[in-house]
Amino acid sequence: MNRAKHIAIIMDGNGRWAELQGKKRVKGHEAGAEVVKTITTYCSKSSEIERLTLYAFSTENWKRPRLEVEFLMKLLNTYLKNELPVYLENNVRFESIGDIKAFSKTLQKTIKMVEEKTAHCDGLIQSLALNYGAQDEMIRAINTLKDSKGDVTLEMMSDALDCKHNVDLLIRTGGDHRLSNFLLWQSAYAELFFCDTLWPDFTPKELEKIINKFTKVERRFGGLK
Ligand code: FPP
Repeated sequence: MNRAKHIAIIMDGNGRWAELQGKKRVKGHEAGAEVVKTITTYCSKSSEIERLTLYAFSTENWKRPRLEVEFLMKLLNTYLKNELPVYLENNVRFESIGDIKAFSKTLQKTIKMVEEKTAHCDGLIQSLALNYGAQDEMIRAINTLKDSKGDVTLEMMSDALDCKHNVDLLIRTGGDHRLSNFLLWQSAYAELFFCDTLWPDFTPKELEKIINKFTKVERRFGGLK
């Protein structure tokens, strides 16, 4: 049976969820942040799941209206500060992937602070993709490798990426069937699951169902069984 050691999620549908209820889009992000908490706590209790990587802000999300971007930045800052005791209680190590230099000094400080304060936790690793794009990640990796001696190997490339871990199970909520520049290298052999549920309605029960289906899939990694 497959083990979903590394789960990655594209959390889509916050805006539509809010609009369906006649609310402003940002209310959907607020509700989405609550689901981040619930799903992280659920994963932290599982002995199978080692790493949960969540797409929180992409390199393309800067194209959104200024007020929405500002709201997301504030929400991230508050979420991380409020979440610190919960991470510690659940033995969750927090890390970020992506190029956070584009964020305000305040947000960068909060991200670093939570990374440092949870560095000793050896349970689940919750990795938030922040100003993350797989193409940007690969270009940054190539630039760090371009002066190395000899040919670049698979291991060298993997090691130069922000996320150095292959994804087992990649889920996208919100009904669209695309990867939107998320973990393109690491998902080479990931099993992909798409569901129509909008992220604020996503529950641990639905995640459990997806994991159950995943465990039964035959993974061949290009070989034969
Ligand atoms: C997509 O919904 C979601 C995002 C752009 C960001 C994800 C953000 C959260 C889940 C909330 C904040 C996260 C944390 C970690 C505190 P969308 O706005 O594209 O939805 P739509 O497709 O319905 O418009």
